[in-house]
Amino acid sequence: MEKLIGKNKLRVSVFISGRGTNLKSIINFSKKKNSSFKVILIITNNKKAKGINFAKKNKIKFLFVDYKNKNEAERKILINLKSCNIDFICLAGFMKILSNNILNNYKNKILNIHPSLLPNYKGLNTHRRIINNKEKFTGCTVHLVNSKLDSGKIILQKKIKVLKKDDEKSLSKKVLKIENLIYPLAIKKFIQSNF
Ligand code: GRF
Repeated sequence: MEKLIGKNKLRVSVFISGRGTNLKSIINFSKKKNSSFKVILIITNNKKAKGINFAKKNKIKFLFVDYKNKNEAERKILINLKSCNIDFICLAGFMKILSNNILNNYKNKILNIHPSLLPNYKGLNTHRRIINNKEKFTGCTVHLVNSKLDSGKIILQKKIKVLKKDDEKSLSKKVLKIENLIYPLAIKKFIQSNF
């Protein structure tokens, strides 16, 4: 708890690969008066990730990591996380799987958001599969990251209805809105029980 007192906010790194709407909502939330965390470092494997603009706009340090060599990429990531004294990590649309080297260094300190009601629909193309299977409900989940894909402890989850008229596009739009809403709330909950 010591870290949360006064101006010593917890130091977060957000990993992205694309658009960055979850990154944006995390940054916006972190700027609120009583927020107990600060986004210090943004990491991307994609030079063209749109989300980098939020880093620039908010003058947050960002780092591009070339994944042609995964070991080298993770070595670079770890050096930067350590030199920035990062307390925990948020994956937000990061399309690479972290290996044990990073997982062990940040055990139970890595969060991810997934666009389904985990443990259902792990992996990619969730909205397409939801529509094809004519599911009545879907949602999104913020969970801890462990070595199994989309399988760590659930921190926060929100359920929404799938309407008959929904297609993959409308559904992903609806779910994304909720994702942007719950990710910061999940971070808050995670901090309360872990620091
Ligand atoms: C989100 O749908 C998230 O659940 C998934 O990747 C997408 C990232 O979106 N893991 P954005 O880049 O945060 O807009």
